[in-house]
Amino acid sequence: MPLSAPPSGIQAISPSIPPPPFSSPSTHRPSTLAIHADDQLNRSADVAPALHVSTTFRYASNPEDLVTIKNFKWPLPNDMHVYSRLTAPTSTRLEILLMPLLHAPCLTYSSGLAALHGLYVFLNPKRISIGIGYHGSHGVLGLQKKMTGCEILGLECAEEELGPGDVIHLETPVNPTGEAFCIEKYARKAHARGAFLLVDATFGPPGLQDPFVWGADVVMHAGTKYLGGHSDMLCGVLASNKEGWVEELREERTYLGSVMGSLEGWLGVRSLRTLEIRVQRQSSNCQQLVGWISGMLEGAEGGEMVREAVEKVQHASLQVADMEWLRDQMPNGYGPVFAIAMKSESLARRLPSKLELFHHATSLGGVESLIEWRAMSDMTVDTRLLRVSVGLEHWEDLRDDLMRGFKALREEETNRAVPADSTA
Ligand SMILES: Cc1ncc(COP(=O)(O)O)c(C=O)c1O
Repeated sequence: MPLSAPPSGIQAISPSIPPPPFSSPSTHRPSTLAIHADDQLNRSADVAPALHVSTTFRYASNPEDLVTIKNFKWPLPNDMHVYSRLTAPTSTRLEILLMPLLHAPCLTYSSGLAALHGLYVFLNPKRISIGIGYHGSHGVLGLQKKMTGCEILGLECAEEELGPGDVIHLETPVNPTGEAFCIEKYARKAHARGAFLLVDATFGPPGLQDPFVWGADVVMHAGTKYLGGHSDMLCGVLASNKEGWVEELREERTYLGSVMGSLEGWLGVRSLRTLEIRVQRQSSNCQQLVGWISGMLEGAEGGEMVREAVEKVQHASLQVADMEWLRDQMPNGYGPVFAIAMKSESLARRLPSKLELFHHATSLGGVESLIEWRAMSDMTVDTRLLRVSVGLEHWEDLRDDLMRGFKALREEETNRAVPADSTA
């Protein structure tokens, strides 16, 4: 039975204002789409969309309009839903909004790692090639290996080690340093062997890069970070242009049960409205800070305190030798996360406590700046490493806060160096 007309049961939730006629918004630019791509779902006069919390949805009241599950094609038309482990209004709205921003059909999950798990269950590769990056993703691969016996290879494995259906898992920019990898290079390598390229683009969200342009087969986001942007929701996203992949992933998600909650979906819609402006400003703030620190390390005036404490700073904007491809891959900025390698573990442990504007906390992507002594949550990194997620504060205030921190460290070092009885 065709589903083009809304079944009568649905009319009960459709008040007097009819939905606007659907017109393809594809000619609009991303900042416009982030605000209007979901207009087609509006059923009431509310400008801010409602938060739907129901887990179950009434079927059509006219028996003639009942369509058995065998004949459903997801997502159902007219914003119909059955049970929220399959689809739900608020997360569907988020997916509809995300689709033109990611340039592919997409699906949300309860977290970034849940999305990754969903993808590996779906692809079930014999081999996965992966480099350094988010330690949690390696945890997911550990589970995959336990379940399937798949082999984990390094990112720079020989092309011949890969075969059809295998996966290159590329994180770019990479956690925790914010350095970037050439997507096109790994796409070529994967495709030469019939393998797939997954790009975890969490650190380079829409507005900064589009991995599909460079050959990604599937793009994953920890939506918890920039898509959410306010440190208040967990979310994962998979997007793919491969024929039928998202439909199959949706089917499998039903049995994994890893759907995101309605509140998170609603928060996500709220957040996407400002995605582009947030990430581009955060990225430019980050580049200013990175430029300032690296200038100090190179000998700029007044930089003694920075040079005493900092060994090196890492960020994609400093990859001068890679700019030929990197400028094209990230034309609007190199991402809002960078890393500072301090001269000692003790300095790395203490700097966060000296800062006022940077919260000492894990995670990233929110409007507020964070700094993390990375050893607090990642046992694989150098214990001198600090990861910085730059927010939306004015970059000069952040710079001054860091300078105050370096100054406080110097004072502490000086006091430590003075023998205890020297005041006598
Ligand atoms: C690059 C990257 N991928 C995936 C994840 C996992 O996301 P989530 O915490 O939403 O599961 C993170 C989390 O920090 C991340 O940084």
